[in-house]
Amino acid sequence: MASNIVTIISSFVIAVIVALTVQIFYFSPIDPLPLQIPPSSSAKHNQLKNIIKLGEGILKDPEDVCFDKEGTLYSVTRDGWIKRLPRNGDWENWKHIDSNTLLGITASKHGGLIVCDATKGLFKVTEEDGFTVLVNGSQANFADDVIEASDGSIYFSDATKKHGLHDVHLDLLEARPHGQLLKYNPTSNEVSVVLDKLHFANGVALSKDEDYLLVSETWKSRVLRHWLKGANKGKTDIFIENLPGGPDNINLAPDGSFWIALVSLTSEGLEYMHKYKVTKHLLASFPRLYELTSGQTKKATVANVATDGSIIRIFGDNDGSVINFVTSAVEFEDHLYLGSLNSNFVGKLPLNSAY
Ligand SMILES: *[C@@H]1O[C@H](CO)[C@@H](O)[C@H](O)[C@H]1NC(C)=O
Repeated sequence: MASNIVTIISSFVIAVIVALTVQIFYFSPIDPLPLQIPPSSSAKHNQLKNIIKLGEGILKDPEDVCFDKEGTLYSVTRDGWIKRLPRNGDWENWKHIDSNTLLGITASKHGGLIVCDATKGLFKVTEEDGFTVLVNGSQANFADDVIEASDGSIYFSDATKKHGLHDVHLDLLEARPHGQLLKYNPTSNEVSVVLDKLHFANGVALSKDEDYLLVSETWKSRVLRHWLKGANKGKTDIFIENLPGGPDNINLAPDGSFWIALVSLTSEGLEYMHKYKVTKHLLASFPRLYELTSGQTKKATVANVATDGSIIRIFGDNDGSVINFVTSAVEFEDHLYLGSLNSNFVGKLPLNSAY
């Protein structure tokens, strides 16, 4: 009798193990590579807890912000709006598109904005014409961030050719280089590849003299530098690596340094989950389990990085209670403006205080 029960129980245990193995390996949606995630060191002080909240309640997950020549602040929202705050004015609902995947924006020198949509591609948005497609979703799978050079060239990232914004966690777990940095030529209407095989191509910025481009490789916790001018023209090197978070949007500061938003790729102490294929398959198969281990909403970190790739200062909200999942930091007239994928406001931090 006792041995029967043992047989039944052990058969059951074996069946469960087989079912799990089949689920994890055979039906796994990913083909992963091991990923080394550097520990996410916390900022020394919680400066980001001192932000003023702009547009609270009317800005749904404003991923990016930018300013035009007049000093009007623009932001994109998850419900398809470009909203703006004129100097000394009130928030306006400027332009709308049927989309819940608007990401990086930049002001064009010729007026209007250039806007990334992770589903539909790259747009020009003007007062007169509203949204006009520059590059459609068949040429850019996941337009993420954009910058315009003074010769009119538009550089933008295609984060990953394989996944979309709704399953971006699978791209992280897979940790393969599906991303690229693209260039759109507005005269010829052509798109060309500047850099291929990037591990989630995210933030894009031009140096003050436009002699190089920076592009975030979020999953690799590093930023690459691609030279556009000078002796190194055409070459690519590592600008900064081992960042204490995955680099998201990058913005040039008025002094020529850069502000890089860093998102937590995983909860602290769970970095090892990304080192093994088996744990990756497990997390990919069970989204609820993945959610428990993901770290984006647990803190906010932004780094100010000098042109030599050294960190000047790091600001944070170490438990994310005021602002978290900060995806962009833009410096304008001695203030830092913060976009976030988990807030209903844009953060504003005075920089001239004693930080
Ligand atoms: C996308 O753009 C390309 C190149 O301009 C064009 O050939 C193609 O027809 C467009 N696709 C859609 C669905 O508009």
